[in-house]
Amino acid sequence: MGARQKSRTVLLTGASGGLGNAIARLLAERGDRLLLQGRNVDRLEQLRRSLTDPERHRVLAADLLDSGGRRQLMQMCREEAGLDVLINNAGISRFALLGDLADRELADILHTNLLVPMTLTRDLLPLLEQSPEGAVINIGSAFGHIGHPGFTAYSASKAGLFAFTEALRRECADSGVRVHYLAPRAVDTELNTPAVRALNRALRNKSDTPAVVARQCADLLHRPSGQRRFIGWPERLFIKINALFPSLVDSALSKKLPVIRRYAKQGDLSGEVL
Ligand SMILES: NC(=O)c1ccc[n+]([C@@H]2O[C@H](COP(=O)([O-])OP(=O)(O)OC[C@H]3O[C@@H](n4cnc5c(N)ncnc54)[C@H](OP(=O)(O)O)[C@@H]3O)[C@@H](O)[C@H]2O)c1
Repeated sequence: MGARQKSRTVLLTGASGGLGNAIARLLAERGDRLLLQGRNVDRLEQLRRSLTDPERHRVLAADLLDSGGRRQLMQMCREEAGLDVLINNAGISRFALLGDLADRELADILHTNLLVPMTLTRDLLPLLEQSPEGAVINIGSAFGHIGHPGFTAYSASKAGLFAFTEALRRECADSGVRVHYLAPRAVDTELNTPAVRALNRALRNKSDTPAVVARQCADLLHRPSGQRRFIGWPERLFIKINALFPSLVDSALSKKLPVIRRYAKQGDLSGEVL
């Protein structure tokens, strides 16, 4: 267990998911008070009961795509004595070729992964600015920096989230709120369907446990200024190469394209069948 420290109140979106769960456990162990957001109230309650000092934490079940759900969340945050940290972690993905994505799927991915963090951050900034520990952590993805076939909408949403975070960090430079960005590579959670896991095995892509990412997230809260952090080697190197010499990455990914197309077309079949 990590050492106890000054307690912060943290709103964590997507707490019912794989990464959210690990972040919640670690921050609760370190003495933070958590507002656990997600859609699945049973999972959230189960998580809350399993945390250190369960009675200190609150569950806020709301669909963030619904304006009523977001209003309810805001209301609950304003009822708190204060809010120190917002972790925009809720997210969705869909592994498919662009032509197979319906309008609704495109909109939901951009809305959940980009517009929701933007509106939540805007609405909660006045509360965060009142805290000497005020911070925002946006959970991005390596795919926001290496546009990946089969993940066009997801890559676009996370690239947008990175640009939003960078602009906001600079906009908040004189406000005391630290604005962080954390980009994991693949993480072992339910976000990745059997088809994605089979693709990762076929391409020998490495993945991390949620606990590894949670430790990086918790560490950001000790940083005195906003940070951008990318997890995993060699992914960090690929991100730099892609920024400087994108044609090298074009060429590497075009060799993998037949495999990516095959798995994307097979959609949600089980990894064993694939
Ligand atoms: N897993 C990876 O490989 C990976 C890699 C890089 C980055 N990331 C990022 O890490 C973050 C967490 O992902 P994860 O892997 O933990 O995925 P996950 O296990 O599928 O969890 C996603 C979470 O987001 C919540 N959520 C989704 N849509 C929502 C909505 N409309 N309203 C409210 N909550 C909503 C889910 O709530 P319910 O379950 O209650 O519906 C769940 O708590 C995401 O931003 C993801 O893009 C993941």
